[in-house]
Amino acid sequence: MSVIYNPTDQTITLNTKNTSYQMKVGPLGYLVHTYYGPHIDTDASYCMVFRDRGFSPNPYDAKLDRTISPDTMPMEYPCDGSGDYRATAVSIKRPNGVVKCDFRYDGHSVVPGKYSLPGLPAVYVENEEAETLVVTLKDKYSDIEVILQYGIIPELDVITRTAKIQNNTEENIILNNAASGCIDMMSGEWDLVHFYGRHAGERAFGRTEIGQREILVGSRRGTSSHHENPFVILAERDTAEMHGACIGMSLLYSGAFSCNAGGDAFGGVRAVMGIQPEHFDYPLAPGESFQAPELALAYSADGFTKLSHIFHKLIANNICRGPWKNKRRPVLINNWEATQMNFDGEKILSIARKAADLGVEMMVLDDGWFGARNDDYAGLGDWVVNTEKLGCTMGELADQIRAMGMKFGIWIEPEMVNEDSDLFREHPEWAMRVPGTDPVIARNQLVLDYSRKDVVDYVFDQIAKVLDECKADYVKMDMNRPLSDMYTAVSDCQSRGKLQYEYVLGVYRFMEKLLERYPDLLFEGCSGGGGRFDAGMLYYSPQIWCSDNTDAIDRIRIQYGTSFGYPIRTMGAHVSAVPNYDTWRKTPLHTRAVVAMEGTFGYELDLNLISDEEKKEVPEQIETFKKYWNLLHNGLYYRLTDVMKNHQEAAWMMVAEDGSEALVNIVKLNTTGNCPNRYIRCAGLTPGATYINEATGDIYSANALMTIGIPMPRVMRPGTFWWSNAGEYDAFQIHLCRV
Ligand code: GLA
Repeated sequence: MSVIYNPTDQTITLNTKNTSYQMKVGPLGYLVHTYYGPHIDTDASYCMVFRDRGFSPNPYDAKLDRTISPDTMPMEYPCDGSGDYRATAVSIKRPNGVVKCDFRYDGHSVVPGKYSLPGLPAVYVENEEAETLVVTLKDKYSDIEVILQYGIIPELDVITRTAKIQNNTEENIILNNAASGCIDMMSGEWDLVHFYGRHAGERAFGRTEIGQREILVGSRRGTSSHHENPFVILAERDTAEMHGACIGMSLLYSGAFSCNAGGDAFGGVRAVMGIQPEHFDYPLAPGESFQAPELALAYSADGFTKLSHIFHKLIANNICRGPWKNKRRPVLINNWEATQMNFDGEKILSIARKAADLGVEMMVLDDGWFGARNDDYAGLGDWVVNTEKLGCTMGELADQIRAMGMKFGIWIEPEMVNEDSDLFREHPEWAMRVPGTDPVIARNQLVLDYSRKDVVDYVFDQIAKVLDECKADYVKMDMNRPLSDMYTAVSDCQSRGKLQYEYVLGVYRFMEKLLERYPDLLFEGCSGGGGRFDAGMLYYSPQIWCSDNTDAIDRIRIQYGTSFGYPIRTMGAHVSAVPNYDTWRKTPLHTRAVVAMEGTFGYELDLNLISDEEKKEVPEQIETFKKYWNLLHNGLYYRLTDVMKNHQEAAWMMVAEDGSEALVNIVKLNTTGNCPNRYIRCAGLTPGATYINEATGDIYSANALMTIGIPMPRVMRPGTFWWSNAGEYDAFQIHLCRV
């Protein structure tokens, strides 16, 4: 039993394998949050301090007791208008503009299994035991209810949360906020770890002391965005990779979101996470309800690595779906960086032929195969194969590629339309534009109104025709601009919050339809690279193109940040040409492959154009990937260096869960003549065991590898007879086997 209700002290404790999460029906029926951390078997509300705090007001029914205040209690789902002046989770406006609700506990129940959320992504269980706790809060003054659901999966050490706001009144109300969850801690010095960035520079690790202020991270872009990621960590001051307390919060949602983390006046720290409240103005008519997206929570007492392992397993096994989630993905080649939209069928076949020759397993045809799509000014929306450009039908192209022994996949961007397209000419009202104003334009394209079922269905049918024709094995689904001009032609209600939410639901519906119709399809998400890299998307596609930046050295940083919340098997990563088109940096082919193996692994260049020597390397790289993929994708992942601080070398390793083997990956970032000795400290090996370096036969003690480290490998340069330093951008993979 993972949910324990104690009727005497009215605590509800949720127990996972290593953690407890506790709430309690507190004074005057307020649902307070009393604990999240390692197991406890007590009522942790003894830590709540009740004092008359000046300017922290009291509920009227507290009468003469001035120590009870929603402003100072740790609240499970804090409410705007109740006298809590910190960031709140729910804010409701009545028809006359009044914002006043006061939610109190109304009852709870426990249901076997884990709840699901129709139309929204949610953690699911297959073999694991799970329970759902449902707590109902009711407004003191009206029939508005908040229904909190918690999914407890003890084996995974994960608790999920969500909230539903139910309008049982006779009035129309407006939700100004309806967060997915809140973590309210009574004590501790906490930092907010967040993953910020930009297009081609996603998910940099950022760590900020929360102190006594509110820190707001999030996206107002209608998508989860390149700029902040809906995965954050609350970490105690001294928490590092291998020690210290931290709480991960991963929102399963691909739209605008926010996390408000703030320290209050009395030592408490609160983090509220969910849909972006700034753009939220969601109307609820009598009888209607709003379902907040799901938030997955995990606590680690042993630092970031352990926390990452929890989220890696959760996402790989209990969020990703479909036949590909646990299978080795085909090594693919994508033509985008090789050709952009300047190709014809023969060019694609020549790239495919060479790739097949060198052992690549799937050809992916990127943007430019449809309509009048020869640059990014036209064609989006017209999902009709440009047979003139290809010189054949899509089915014929696919057949020729399959005849080479490869699978075949295509790129789509179903949410978008160019003004210069037949679709726009026929249905201008399907593009979101506010009448009487110019639309905000981005990459010359407009956003289709995915809040409309007819639009989603139409685009789906067009694309399905092409997928049927070529029997696609793979689809890369892109989305290349933020939302703006939220307006729908089919309703009088132009609530930006509602349209943005329904847009995201429309995208999910599109993807669900795709998976239903093509259950064996390998699906890769994309949004100008990693602009929609979130746990919600991973419910539909088991991998997401991590970034448009394929420079191996930049990618190390991007993949490092991504690895905190997401398993590496979800990160689309390819070897591309040098000099890199964006950074103009040259890195060895081997280094590019080592970095791409910290992801799905594939190629994104014309392999006809590399040197003969490099052509010999490619099949070896593919063999290496196949040899190690189980370890790479199913092993426990360890970050060995802090790439935000260490500019000498980057290293990471994967260790088989039983400790029997490990793969250490090292890239030299910077060097100097006659350079000092450097060591890479390993992690996760079996303590006391001995390991052999498979390539050199060197024997190491696991304890020494984990305390001193492995010496930075040296290299024998061509034409020399002595060992040299590892040079700038040299990369190494060291396979260790337990003896
Ligand atoms: C986005 C993607 C790229 C490529 C282009 C095509 O930028 O991230 O990988 O597919 O679109 O237009």
